[in-house]
Amino acid sequence: MSLVDALRAVVGERQVLVDADVRAPFEVDWTRRFRGSAAAVVRPGSADEVVAVLRACAEHGAAVVPQGGNTGLVGGSVPRGGEVVLSLTRLTGLGQVDRASLQVDAGAGVTLAALQGRARAAGLDAGVDIAARDSATVGGLVACDAGGVRAVRHGTVRARVAGLEAVLADGSIVRRTSGLLKDNAGYDLPGLLVGSEGTLGVITAVRWRLVARHDARALALVPLASLAEAAELLAAVRPLLPSLDACEFFTDEGLSLVLEHLRASAPVELRAAAYVLIECAAAADPLEELAAAFEAAGVEDALIADDTTGRERLWRLREAHTEAISAAGIPHKLDVGVPIDRLAPFAAAVHEAMPPDARVILFGHLGDGNVHVNVLGPDPDDDAVDEAVLRLVAGHGGTISAEHGIGVAKAGWLHLTREPGEIAAMRAIKAALDPGGLLNPGAVLA
Ligand code: FAD
Ligand code: MLT
Ligand code: ZN
Repeated sequence: MSLVDALRAVVGERQVLVDADVRAPFEVDWTRRFRGSAAAVVRPGSADEVVAVLRACAEHGAAVVPQGGNTGLVGGSVPRGGEVVLSLTRLTGLGQVDRASLQVDAGAGVTLAALQGRARAAGLDAGVDIAARDSATVGGLVACDAGGVRAVRHGTVRARVAGLEAVLADGSIVRRTSGLLKDNAGYDLPGLLVGSEGTLGVITAVRWRLVARHDARALALVPLASLAEAAELLAAVRPLLPSLDACEFFTDEGLSLVLEHLRASAPVELRAAAYVLIECAAAADPLEELAAAFEAAGVEDALIADDTTGRERLWRLREAHTEAISAAGIPHKLDVGVPIDRLAPFAAAVHEAMPPDARVILFGHLGDGNVHVNVLGPDPDDDAVDEAVLRLVAGHGGTISAEHGIGVAKAGWLHLTREPGEIAAMRAIKAALDPGGLLNPGAVLA
């Protein structure tokens, strides 16, 4: 039996996509930088079907690329050439919130927006937010250990995973979904699968840990003369803000591009070199706490938004960076992390290292030292740009991937951020769990 017939026998003919035009959206990533053709796109509707699909692929020696919402930014969600794309978006089961444990069971294909909706209806929150919320899936978020704008308060997605269910390359199942806070029997396999980017197993469901919902919010945009001042502001106010819920930054280059893209005018009276967006959230209005922190830090020019419309308007300036940059071209997109006190020297070094005609846009999650370096202009396939930025990150004591993952985009540079012994251990784990190298080959480990 051919591979396609074997897949059809498992999921039915309608869920195996073979026509080129139907496969097309699954074969190119969000950035348009990474693409390849798939042998087929298969869309299982249950964990049992995932097991049978992986067994069929293993029997045919066919490599598999797991895919959720396909919003990943490092090329790990699309085929490189001839793999089967395993789309998990039909796994949309979403349980009722367990109010005693503050957890909920979500299928891998549940979108972040749907999860947030379920949590909020129960008076809680998902504890994670990213601009791709309407498409990014629970499976993809866990596979990447995504970060987003609330990590400064709640940690990355790893901190939200109370347990999960996954299928390994040979079809065996790892199931740890009881949600027990204390369960240290043996190795932490769910922990190993978090951030494994589809290379160790296919996540089919997650037991998600929710957080308290804070409805009273205050948001401030602070214009500053430099990124050094941004880092200093964070250090000055952070200890005074127990309600800190987000702390983001962008620069005037990025703001100009966003305003151009949105055809909007600047809401900031004072244009500046850098901007910090600080949001506080609590049960009672946190505005007083924020104002007191600003006074202590000597902040005079903050633009405060304390109603929903004002907040949405300011958040849009930050969140629209990704789409505004993408509308201007295919960027070199490097999600990196540096110690917060290295942010300004790192940014200066990046600007210096780039070709003179390059448009360099830096923004990101200030509270996490997480910088999104975007470079427009140089050919998207010119690795010299990526190499230069990633070497600078390593030189500043940072990581070449803060939240997007390694994917295929950075697999060649893992050694800049991980010791040889660590990479050898990663290879040993990969070989043990996926001896045929069938799961997302080429991602994470080159
Ligand atoms: P996909 O893109 O489909 O896949 C991503 C990786 O996970 C691939 O390696 C894939 O093989 C693997 N994978 C997917 N599903 C599974 C599964 N069920 N089992 C095993 N492996 C799987 N990321 C952040 O961290 N923070 C942000 O603030 C952020 N903002 C974004 C804003 C925009 C506008 C966009 C387009 C992206 C943003 N991202 C951000 C990146 C992206 O949304 C995240 O990486 C997200 O976690 C990807 O989820 P997905 O379902 O789209 O996964
Ligand atoms: C963000 O923080 O907006 C994202 O991680 C997306 C990006 O880097 O473009
Ligand atoms: Zn980000």
